[in-house]
Amino acid sequence: MPLPKAELHLHIEGTLEPELAFELAARNGVSLPYADTEELRAAYRFQGLQSFLDLYYELMSVLRTEQDFADLAEAYLGRAAAQGVRHAEIFFDPQAHARRGVGIGTVVEGLWRALGDSERNHGVSTRLILCFLRDESAESAMETLRAARPHLDRITGVGLDSAEAGHPPAKFREVYEAAAALGLRRVAHAGEEGPPAYITEALDVLGVERVDHGLRCLEDPALVERLVRERVPLTLCPLSNVRLHAVDTLADHPLPTLLDAGLLCTVNSDDPAYFGGYAGDTFDAVRDTLHLTEDRLRELARNSFLASFLEDDEERRAR
Ligand code: ADE
Ligand code: ZN
Repeated sequence: MPLPKAELHLHIEGTLEPELAFELAARNGVSLPYADTEELRAAYRFQGLQSFLDLYYELMSVLRTEQDFADLAEAYLGRAAAQGVRHAEIFFDPQAHARRGVGIGTVVEGLWRALGDSERNHGVSTRLILCFLRDESAESAMETLRAARPHLDRITGVGLDSAEAGHPPAKFREVYEAAAALGLRRVAHAGEEGPPAYITEALDVLGVERVDHGLRCLEDPALVERLVRERVPLTLCPLSNVRLHAVDTLADHPLPTLLDAGLLCTVNSDDPAYFGGYAGDTFDAVRDTLHLTEDRLRELARNSFLASFLEDDEERRAR
């Protein structure tokens, strides 16, 4: 029996497996510049975040209809459940779909076809987190929030993702203020490729409750101390960090150092179709390669529920 856990850092578009991508391409008459799934998989050698994002945005062009998004989410939930995920807080990138004319209503209502029945069908509770693309303008983020208004009953929070370097959190102050005023929870990617100052800015300017990645906090001991003191969760993604060269190898990953420092760490899969593993695979990999004890693994699983946006009673039931 895999350890029950919550997944807090998961981009639904990053769960698009090559087989489903080709199926949706055929269904929608989209042509992909790869002969087959093997050739596509061979392209999964990334130099860093941007080279991954280029392929990630290219491949999601096969997603067109509500049913496509439903099929994508359903495939993820089945895999996640099999690996012990009891609760998933799922990112989606509406601006990346709006670019090719797919509105946020199609994305959210499509995902909801699967998410709405997920507790019954898979034993997995879910939340949706709308991410703004930080390499797009602040005005585009605000327009996206406006477009999301009719769907807010489906959306728990907002996040910030895409190319980090050169796109500091403060650029999104106003849209995060607007999101908070609407009662939305706030998270942001920070300290993946960007400097530790971006983590501080995400906390102070955007008011985030969790930091996605946050790996580079280690470069600033005072920041580590603050994150420990304020019990700010980090949603770490070790397999992603290896594939995008934030660390050289999994054996070099600072997860043990971060745990020893007293940080509230969680372990997540980010974009599992691209980075070689879902939540359970990630737990297995860090256990085997970083030699984590059973107690440490249980701590990571417990942290995942503590750091979630579940209410206390829901959290206890999910565990
Ligand atoms: N979008 C999908 N995966 C991402 C990541 N690891 N960092 C930033 N943006 C992303
Ligand atoms: Zn991410």
